Amino acid sequence: MSGAVWMCAVFLLLGALYLFGSVGFAVCLIPPLVWIVSLTQPAAPVNCKGRAVLITGCDSGFGHVLAKQLDGLGFRVFAGCLSPDGPGAQSLKSECSSQLSILKLNVTLDEDVEKAKEFVEANLPGEGLWGLVNNAGIFGWGEVEWNNIKVYQRHADVNLWGSIRMTLSFIPLVRQCKGRFIFLSSTSAYIHTPACSTYVITKCGIEAFSDCFRLEMKKFGVKVSVIEPGNYTSATNILKVQTTEEVWNELSDPVKRVYSKEYIQLLIDKVQNIMSSKSRNPTDVTNAIMEALISSNPKARYLVVSMAERVIIFMCVHFPTWFTDAFFCSRRAYCKQNVLIASQINN
Ligand SMILES: NC(=O)c1ccc[n+]([C@@H]2O[C@H](COP(=O)([O-])OP(=O)(O)OC[C@H]3O[C@@H](n4cnc5c(N)ncnc54)[C@H](OP(=O)(O)O)[C@@H]3O)[C@@H](O)[C@H]2O)c1
Repeated sequence: MSGAVWMCAVFLLLGALYLFGSVGFAVCLIPPLVWIVSLTQPAAPVNCKGRAVLITGCDSGFGHVLAKQLDGLGFRVFAGCLSPDGPGAQSLKSECSSQLSILKLNVTLDEDVEKAKEFVEANLPGEGLWGLVNNAGIFGWGEVEWNNIKVYQRHADVNLWGSIRMTLSFIPLVRQCKGRFIFLSSTSAYIHTPACSTYVITKCGIEAFSDCFRLEMKKFGVKVSVIEPGNYTSATNILKVQTTEEVWNELSDPVKRVYSKEYIQLLIDKVQNIMSSKSRNPTDVTNAIMEALISSNPKARYLVVSMAERVIIFMCVHFPTWFTDAFFCSRRAYCKQNVLIASQINN
């Protein structure tokens, strides 16, 4: 690739010389061409040896896969696990090198974060704490009025306040080595559809927080990146499917008078449909995280999506709201829901 770019640059120079017959003009073209070529040159990646990375939520999913990949690359990995004796942590222990340490880390608890910090400080390799990957997260689904405020708080506690708590705690260590902060966001930060509000609000918060933080950290040479995966629910444990009865039993009586079990089943079918959609490889996402950690020039955002997801995001960001509303409301499941609600209210 870089060879081809150099060839083009040389041809442009020769072309300018031929067309304008002026050596001076061709010489003037050299600095901008060198600059353009330098942009296309991949700078040397960061050396992993002697550097540490702390990842939250390594029991399963992206965090688990990433911990193994970073260990394989030679990073000193601190793998935060909600259940340090659970199967996820055990598999990391048995499959990774002695450079990987499991930390009990519930990101909603000040004491866990404080203890994790003490452990990391006491066990840092020579080059220090290079990266913090704020990966831990939970997902819940259900219409706004099916949830109470505690459900919203629980999602924000893990996905948003948990990431901010970790970040606040580890800024000094990461800043010391001009390292990296990585936040797991989601396409949900762009696509706001029904029955996802508990999750969507937390990912919008992560996007906003990391935008402010990225600009603040520039002056210290610390880089902040956001990873925005599409639907990888078939590849991780994030989406838990409840039964109709379980959902129904949690609803209050006034809500039960508006929604029916059939309506809930419709949503469950939708969730199962999302989960069974084309299986995807979690390494698409973990490779993006690794690039954000290792590249000498990481991007602010890594959108890891299919073409269909890219089109929907484009629509949600650039099209007028009346258009996107009409798009989501015209979907078959939404129309069926309308019919069920109408019949429930009329009965
Ligand atoms: N999968 C997707 O389609 C998708 C798409 C976009 C964004 N994401 C984001 O990617 C991140 C990782 O999710 P994933 O899909 O890999 O799901 P996952 O398999 O459920 O992994 C999430 C991890 O976070 C842990 N966790 C939950 N509550 C925690 C807490 N209070 N403190 C510390 N750890 C906690 C979980 O532990 P347990 O296993 O014990 O619950 C689990 O290890 C999340 O931030 C998620 O929002 C996922």
